[in-house]
Amino acid sequence: MANDASTVFDVVILGGGSGGYAAALRAAQLGLQVALIEKGKLGGTCLHNGCIPTKALLHAAEVADQTRESAGFGVKATFEGIDINGVHAYKDGVISGLYKGLQGLVASRKITYVSGEGRLSSPTTVDVNGERYTGRHIVLATGSVPKSLPGLAIDGDRVISSDHALTLDRVPNSVIVLGGGVIGVEFASVWKSFGAEVTIIEALPHLAPLEDENSSKLLERAFRKRGIKFELGARFSGVEYTATGVRASLENGKQVEAELMLVAVGRGPVSQGLGYEEAGVATDRGYVLVDEYMQTNVPTISAVGDLVPTLQLAHVGFAEGILVAERLAGLKVVPIDYDGVPRVTYCHPEVASVGITEAKAKELYGADKVVTAKFNLAGNGKSKILKTAGEIKLVQVKDGAVVGVHMVGDRMGEQVGEAQLIYNWEALPSEVAQLIHAHPTQSEALGEAHLALAGKPLHNHD
Ligand code: NAI
Repeated sequence: MANDASTVFDVVILGGGSGGYAAALRAAQLGLQVALIEKGKLGGTCLHNGCIPTKALLHAAEVADQTRESAGFGVKATFEGIDINGVHAYKDGVISGLYKGLQGLVASRKITYVSGEGRLSSPTTVDVNGERYTGRHIVLATGSVPKSLPGLAIDGDRVISSDHALTLDRVPNSVIVLGGGVIGVEFASVWKSFGAEVTIIEALPHLAPLEDENSSKLLERAFRKRGIKFELGARFSGVEYTATGVRASLENGKQVEAELMLVAVGRGPVSQGLGYEEAGVATDRGYVLVDEYMQTNVPTISAVGDLVPTLQLAHVGFAEGILVAERLAGLKVVPIDYDGVPRVTYCHPEVASVGITEAKAKELYGADKVVTAKFNLAGNGKSKILKTAGEIKLVQVKDGAVVGVHMVGDRMGEQVGEAQLIYNWEALPSEVAQLIHAHPTQSEALGEAHLALAGKPLHNHD
């Protein structure tokens, strides 16, 4: 449908990433008239510069590792190296298939899709390409971009962001990864598997510092074994160019040299110059502030996704977009429990979790009210077959529900579905212990951890 100035949409959505397009699809499904405005490609960061391409790279990395290690499974194969163009072709093929599907979905729901850069011009209007789109409601979903540090210039050549890393035309000989959070450890994992020397610099005392300390330590052990180097509790103080690459300096006096440096110190909201402040929308450090129903301080304006200060995850964007669409359509909605959102870091080995850490549980409930149990994957047949090491750790409130599930090991991301049901349904260990898990699967390890917590461990050695 072409825009005509007299059209008043039910919802005008600015940004077609995970948060924005989920809001559009659900709103249209509920009979609302929707305009969706996107300056780049429908699907946003997740599909084009984030989740999907990085996971394709991680899968290629797994194939490389499996080829190198094939003799350990009695299979003869020779690893000859990485054909980076072939890797990009595979990755781009995955993206383009999903992109086509998504475009078809938006078209089939009769959403007015507007390609162009939009700007909020009032609490009920967005201007794009010289045209004005009016909505009873506006949803801001302009997402995030890679951040840097003060004085650290990302030149896209020797000092790069994750956007550049995704299209790098070679496997570097050596890389410094600045930041040991989610993006940092995922790229470190890919590059090591592809054959690069990798050093991570992380200011906090652990890799993946938001995870339960047990998971961080297991990941560090696994990375050490893989030959990935890291400097922990090490604040970065500067970088200079050398004849062949870069030299990073740390506040503790150490220096690290490499061919290039990836800056992975977080992503910041895209909210500048888009008319938000002029329309009266309250922000904090660029993030648009919302209540638990994703409503801003301006009654006609909602916001979702990486633009708001909640977990920067695509599936959170989907959930927030759906919540807004349903609220605007007059349905009863329930605020999101962000602790109940599953989190997966897809490095090798994977780190997956839902609920709260042991430290947070002790803070909330008191140290004497928190019980934990662990199950080592060494006792799990399928993990042994896959030759993966790791652990599942559970955090329980004494005599109560399981409030945290923390897993490390290859393919543990696929176990987070059951883990999130356990957390979100406030399951008791004795209830989960009743459930029979198929043998041999890695899901058994989750069952075994609950058997241990319920006081009847089966294959547990400790
Ligand atoms: P992050 O916030 O997860 O990690 C950044 C890390 O950089 C932190 O650990 C921080 O302590 C460290 N850092 C900051 N300043 C530093 C300094 N001066 N010196 C040394 N270290 C320093 O951000 P990241 O990894 O860039 O990811 C951005 C967002 O994207 C995250 O919120 C993440 O959840 C999301 N994401 C999620 C993925 C997934 O779910 N698998 C994959 C990739 C990204």
